[in-house]
Amino acid sequence: MNHIVREGYQGTGPGAITPDGCAVELYKRIAVRDEPQWIARAIGERPRGLRLLELGSGVGRLTRPLIEMGLEVTAVDESAEMLAAVRESLPGVRTVRSPIETLELGGDRGVERFDVVLLASFLVHAGSVGVREGMLRACRRHVAEDGVVLIQRESAEQHDNLPYERHMEGEGVVRIASSTPAVGVGRPGARTVVAEYYYPDAKWTQTFLSCPLTDGEFEAALGEAGLGLDGYMDPAKTWARAVPVGP
Ligand SMILES: C[S@@+](CC[C@H](N)C(=O)[O-])C[C@H]1O[C@@H](n2cnc3c(N)ncnc32)[C@H](O)[C@@H]1O
Repeated sequence: MNHIVREGYQGTGPGAITPDGCAVELYKRIAVRDEPQWIARAIGERPRGLRLLELGSGVGRLTRPLIEMGLEVTAVDESAEMLAAVRESLPGVRTVRSPIETLELGGDRGVERFDVVLLASFLVHAGSVGVREGMLRACRRHVAEDGVVLIQRESAEQHDNLPYERHMEGEGVVRIASSTPAVGVGRPGARTVVAEYYYPDAKWTQTFLSCPLTDGEFEAALGEAGLGLDGYMDPAKTWARAVPVGP
């Protein structure tokens, strides 16, 4: 795969940095939060044996609890270093290196489809319309006709009241330092967000683009990709369930 450059995204700090500015060594330290709870709720009572496509898996922070739920996970990421970390900590897990927006699993046998497609980590807020559209189309392409797509969105207040600091598990602190209108990069409305991560022995930063999406804009984007909203799972509407519609 050619070297990927994502304009408007960058990261600093020790170890490998992905094209979207994430630090591999940092993600190895970040514990899972309430994400598995929402995923479990969306999938229902019988996850065992369901096939889940995890888009943008990183080091496998969510992959592990998903496997523990009994799901058969395929982890996709464009970063070789992130996927190497998945294979190291979860031997036997299927990993696929690809940009999400061009993902085509299945080859000559026809597109491979999954019971659940997961697009977490706010990736739907991509700074480029093309990338966002491509990601949602990849979700549509790979979800079974009776399957479900789970999407994690930003809350409506995500860009307000900054800087914001949160102590993480262990000795880490994350600080969302700023969110400002992006200049000369990204689609209209894109914001440049700077996140800083402090640990006693290391510091990482990530600068990335984020496009706020109203409920209406989000639902319209789903529709353009052949998906329909099946419902929001939490009052803040940060977890959405979508299903395939049309041919
Ligand atoms: C913020 S990290 C989160 C990883 C994981 N979902 C988690 O919750 O720990 C985002 C991951 O998505 C990957 N990623 C971002 N945009 C991508 C794209 N367009 N195609 C493939 N991978 C992408 C990055 O390489 C990174 O590993």
